[in-house]
Amino acid sequence: MSGELSPIDKAKFVAAKRAVDFVEDGMRVGLGTGSTAAWMVRCLGELVREDGMQIKGVPTSTRTAELARQVGIEVISLDEAKWLDLTIDGADEFDANLNLIKGGGGALLQEKIVATASDQMIVIADVAKEVAQLGAFPLPVEVIPFGWQTSKALIEETLINLDVLGRDTTLRMNGDAPFVTDEGNYLLDMHLSRIGNVRQLALVINQIPGVVENGLFIDICDVVVIGHGDGKVEVRDINTGTVEEDKIDFLENDNLFADF
Ligand code: 5RP
Repeated sequence: MSGELSPIDKAKFVAAKRAVDFVEDGMRVGLGTGSTAAWMVRCLGELVREDGMQIKGVPTSTRTAELARQVGIEVISLDEAKWLDLTIDGADEFDANLNLIKGGGGALLQEKIVATASDQMIVIADVAKEVAQLGAFPLPVEVIPFGWQTSKALIEETLINLDVLGRDTTLRMNGDAPFVTDEGNYLLDMHLSRIGNVRQLALVINQIPGVVENGLFIDICDVVVIGHGDGKVEVRDINTGTVEEDKIDFLENDNLFADF
């Protein structure tokens, strides 16, 4: 079965599989969104169904909630959980300080709230997501629909004074209509190419009227689990400064691949 997965999917899978080792019985776990996070939800579901692990999951999107329920994870809201032991999520880019760009899947707002309400955030990523400097991936900014064009113009004006290479901002579309987030908002993708000062940019963008949140996750991620297509995984912990390497075997009869 694993032969049907592309190297990138194998990399995502092994990162997810290794990351669920951090989950312990009784934990309240934030469940990220995206293709890598979906592997993690499937791996967790397997632990719940086959090993009887008892966890409660707080999903970061309606699609993750749907998948979590499908695989047997008990889903609760963040307000019910109040605080989480751990969040595991994907990322679009991460740097050496484990600062992130997120929101490629359109769920950055719930993702940031959930990750911030967790003792620990673990990012799972294929090796291609690592960058020397954030910004090649367009930075998503969630804005309310009212006056979004004014917010866009204000963002572009603000960018003139900031240390970025590009300044184009585009409204994310879903076919012919604007993409609408779970909160009913729009997303502006900022094509910056390179962000000189991520901390400053994250703060300044959020001051603009109409902006709800941006996809820069600064000082939120604690651990990154990096997957490779050959099954190698690297676990980097920013707090302890440790790096561990591991290798995960693909099981030909792994149920997780069955419906892929
Ligand atoms: C969703 C996200 C995702 O975590 C990010 O886009 C990575 O997605 P994928 O695992 O599919 O590459 O931030 O809002």
